[in-house]
Amino acid sequence: SRKYAALCPDTLRRVAEDCAQRYKKPKEAEKAARETLHGITGAFMGPEELKRAEERLKAGDMEGALEMHASTRERKPLGPFYEALFARTGRPGRVLDVACGLNPIYLAAMGVAVTGVDIAGGQIEMMNRWASAGGYPLEARLGDALCPDFLPEGPFDLTLAMKLLPVLENQKKGAAAALIESLPSEKAAVTFPTRTLSGRGVGMERHCSQWFEGLLP
Ligand SMILES: C[S@@+](CC[C@H](N)C(=O)[O-])C[C@H]1O[C@@H](n2cnc3c(N)ncnc32)[C@H](O)[C@@H]1O
Repeated sequence: SRKYAALCPDTLRRVAEDCAQRYKKPKEAEKAARETLHGITGAFMGPEELKRAEERLKAGDMEGALEMHASTRERKPLGPFYEALFARTGRPGRVLDVACGLNPIYLAAMGVAVTGVDIAGGQIEMMNRWASAGGYPLEARLGDALCPDFLPEGPFDLTLAMKLLPVLENQKKGAAAALIESLPSEKAAVTFPTRTLSGRGVGMERHCSQWFEGLLP
């Protein structure tokens, strides 16, 4: 489908193979693949929001652009967030941002070199256009955290895995622990949503902390 033209090809292949294994009838496998893809794409930012984000970036409105993505919107204001993080980790030379969404834009605008990886090709392309037009230290690439060899060449001083682990675990059981094992830097920041996309948040913070503590080696 055209809808998934910009999606990471590894993701398309992974979902198609997985559904073909689980369903004997091709029609059922196709339906399941469509449903899975629908669930993992577009929930945080659709094509309209992406277009508006790029327009806002061009107009010099970075905070407004980042608001177009549900995940960066929730982290507002971003300045204090990174101040608090870097107070603990030290200001990193080079950051890896796994399943980055639009987050690398803020870091690169601060002058921090960042490599972002995500399955959302439209966002990856838009960030690379912005970075090369403005000379920002950002490289974004397509990569699926559930496929082998998705990690870019390091070294990195800090890895970000923000609001990713529950999303990964939903796609494949055991994936969150496997990602933690494979993180390529000494320091990592892992964050969790405290509310669902529809705004409900009862007990989420406690539930996520307990789950995360249990995953740590
Ligand atoms: C909740 S958003 C978080 C975005 C960003 N980390 C942030 O906090 O602003 C989850 C992100 O994970 C990406 N994603 C989902 N499944 C993925 C996978 N298997 N590999 C890599 N990225 C994935 C989505 O495209 C989306 O950008």
